[in-house]
Amino acid sequence: MATLAAFSSFFFFFFLVTFASADTGKVGINYGRVANNLPSPEKVVELLKSQGIGRVKTYDTDSAVLAALANSDISVVVAFPNEELSKAAADQSFTDNWVQANISKYYPATKIEAVAVGNEVFADPKNTTPFLVPAMKNVYNSLVKYKLDSNVKVSSPIALGALQNSYPPSSGSFKSDLIEPALKPMLEFLRKTSSYLMVNAYPFFAYSANADKISLDYALFRDNPGQVDSGNGLKYSNLFDAQLDAVFAAMSAISYNDVKVVVTETGWPSMGDENEAGAGAANAAAYNGNLVRRVLSGSGTPLRPKDPLNVYLFALFNENQKQGPTSERNYGLFYPNEQTVYDSPFVSTSGNSSSTPAANKSKTQVPVSGGGGGDVSPSAAGQTWCVANANAGEKKLQAAIDYACGEGGADCRPIQEGATCYDPNTLEAHASYAFNSYYQKQVRKAGSCDFGGAAYVVTQAPKYGKCQFPTGY
Ligand SMILES: *[C@@H]1O[C@H](CO)[C@@H](O)[C@H](O)[C@H]1NC(C)=O
Ligand SMILES: *[C@@H]1O[C@H](CO)[C@@H](O)[C@H](O)[C@H]1NC(C)=O
Ligand SMILES: *[C@@H]1O[C@H](CO)[C@@H](O)[C@H](O)[C@H]1NC(C)=O
Repeated sequence: MATLAAFSSFFFFFFLVTFASADTGKVGINYGRVANNLPSPEKVVELLKSQGIGRVKTYDTDSAVLAALANSDISVVVAFPNEELSKAAADQSFTDNWVQANISKYYPATKIEAVAVGNEVFADPKNTTPFLVPAMKNVYNSLVKYKLDSNVKVSSPIALGALQNSYPPSSGSFKSDLIEPALKPMLEFLRKTSSYLMVNAYPFFAYSANADKISLDYALFRDNPGQVDSGNGLKYSNLFDAQLDAVFAAMSAISYNDVKVVVTETGWPSMGDENEAGAGAANAAAYNGNLVRRVLSGSGTPLRPKDPLNVYLFALFNENQKQGPTSERNYGLFYPNEQTVYDSPFVSTSGNSSSTPAANKSKTQVPVSGGGGGDVSPSAAGQTWCVANANAGEKKLQAAIDYACGEGGADCRPIQEGATCYDPNTLEAHASYAFNSYYQKQVRKAGSCDFGGAAYVVTQAPKYGKCQFPTGY
């Protein structure tokens, strides 16, 4: 079975790679940086290139990031922060300065294609909604001033929380209190400026909250009987299409069905708390892999079959400083040390038909993503381990080992000379052993695998030589 699947997926990927350059859908990735252990922007650009990822979305206009992306040919969506919406709405000179310092300075060497003005603003607890459209207009006017408006679009990502109804998709509608003050003016602006609506859509949330009612196969784009929309008879084979069509129906209901949509965030966490049904590496691999295939197939949704999908996955890295449930810190395709959390969905989109489709994903040797082949095999019992982040640097790792093996109470005897885990005799291997011992002794409690960013949690047993990493003491 596994061999057959790997075999056929090889040809499937080969097919995609060969034809992906036609005007099919587009896939990019969100480069979130709410973490203290990520690689430098230069290394990240190398990683994006090695994966054939040609589109990224950031959450700010960080100068190191924008400079690193210069001349990379990677297109970039940047963000204008929610915190400054009121200033932007009130003052054209504020956005003039912002565009000059944060866009004009980098464009065109850095291929900025859009500014996301605010993020999920309707859900912002600081109630910045009234400032949104005026801020978008001022950013746009500033782009006009710098003659960037025909190349740099202005939009703003909305969450599915903007919907009043989403089921069945044909009954999709926006929350009535958002329509007149925000959505109509925003869609009018997007139409006039030939821009598009940005939508963040997470089938994971819908599934997780209704796991007894929604089939996991339907949420993960796997074979399933599908669902017929009782309103118009259209058939849905996956939850993602159904969510998007609920947005299209809502736009249609207020007469904006000509405005295009880009999905600026979607993803599935590789780990979650006990009450977060569906979180896990195998499901995340299935969701992202199948989504990428879905997008590259070039077809649209049942309501807009001719509009190819345009999607940004969330996210590039696991982000250790995100607040909230465990899932929030585990949406990444990559660990901070650039190893894959599971089979990367991007290998197939690299445009390089000579690249190996499914066997070699990790940049280095620690096989965090299973033994190869197309299947991800997370530990059956949902076990986790703690390993060192080699990017943390020698000094930080050594200090953390000293702590773990000293007052931290980790069992470091196995990494002493002559003992079972002495080989390989590297700082990373020894630190991983010590960190894992500490983490397991702390019963894997939150925060016990961090060491100031020098460590992170993995879902596969670490492999360093013949050393066995315990999962309990
Ligand atoms: C550039 O963008 C950052 C982040 O939004 C902001 O703090 C800074 O003030 C901007 N520069 C100018 C000149 O507006
Ligand atoms: C394709 O991959 C091979 C092997 O990894 C590499 O040598 C070659 O430069 C790549 N070609 C392109 C166009 O990226
Ligand atoms: C894949 O991994 C194997 C074993 O680690 C290695 O020998 C081989 O060169 C790798 N292939 C590529 C294309 O990186």
